[in-house]
Amino acid sequence: MGCIACAIPRFIRSTITVSPPLKLPFQILCRRTVSASVYPAPRLSEREEIRSTELVAREYADLNLSDKFCQEVGHVRIRQHVNPLRSTLMVPVEVPDWNGVYDDPTLPLMVDIGTGSGRFLIWLAKQNPGLRNYLGFEIRPKLVRRAEYWVNELALKNIHFVYANATVSFKQLVSTYPGPLILVSILCPDPHFKKKHHKRRVVQKPLVESIVESLVPGGQIFVQSDVLDAALDMRDYFDAESHKLVHVDRINPDMLCDNEGWLVNNPMGIRTEREIHAEFEGSKIFRRMYQKQW
Ligand SMILES: C[S@@+](CC[C@H](N)C(=O)[O-])C[C@H]1O[C@@H](n2cnc3c(N)ncnc32)[C@H](O)[C@@H]1O
Repeated sequence: MGCIACAIPRFIRSTITVSPPLKLPFQILCRRTVSASVYPAPRLSEREEIRSTELVAREYADLNLSDKFCQEVGHVRIRQHVNPLRSTLMVPVEVPDWNGVYDDPTLPLMVDIGTGSGRFLIWLAKQNPGLRNYLGFEIRPKLVRRAEYWVNELALKNIHFVYANATVSFKQLVSTYPGPLILVSILCPDPHFKKKHHKRRVVQKPLVESIVESLVPGGQIFVQSDVLDAALDMRDYFDAESHKLVHVDRINPDMLCDNEGWLVNNPMGIRTEREIHAEFEGSKIFRRMYQKQW
């Protein structure tokens, strides 16, 4: 079995070759192997009692995040979907002072769009201090406040969350960042199931074009969803950029794809919360990873 990291440019590799149980690229490829080694498989009777929220807590146990935020600010209640086309959300946000936000704003940047709780990105930031900066876009203010609370608690200086509609604010924010943009992830975006609401989906042509334009050559885009229709939609948009993007299995066949062209494994070394819940329910995760041509 080959090495997943070989398909990934050197400047991205350390982003994904991370925590001790995930040292070997092969282990990163095989999420089930990773899970089995980190968390012994529960016996059936135990398994019935385990809820997916507990699996999320276990996945992020390393972070040791307190629930002080909930005690101080109240619980974060999540409404199903926010309508990003609401007029108040169509206003671009102010560009942050990057020098105030990051210790070193010239480091390579990873952007996560629709970051949810932010724990996925915080986990990556904690693995790579002084190597990478991380920026999370999230449209629900309370999630952003809680994520920033955790960032302060962990004293991380390489991660920032913005309360922003990515469709409206991605380009202007990222274009002012002093360092190179090396990776953009869009993971389990809100599916907005009804056809008449598809225009609310975060992945739209202008955002796709901005991402492709903003990435450095060799930079990557990782998308996934547990909803086939939403995954196909993202895939169509990024496949349409094939003159500028190549799917990673074309560069390295060890980035295994199934017969339908979906990546078999999560290459990030950590799962997102939605991914954990969906896998717990037995859903398949549809993944694609693209690289900008040199
Ligand atoms: C289903 S959740 C997935 C969260 C996380 N990526 C995961 O996989 O666990 C989708 C997230 O995207 C956020 N979101 C939806 N539209 C957005 C937009 N236009 N800009 C920024 N965030 C958005 C939602 O508020 C929500 O937190």
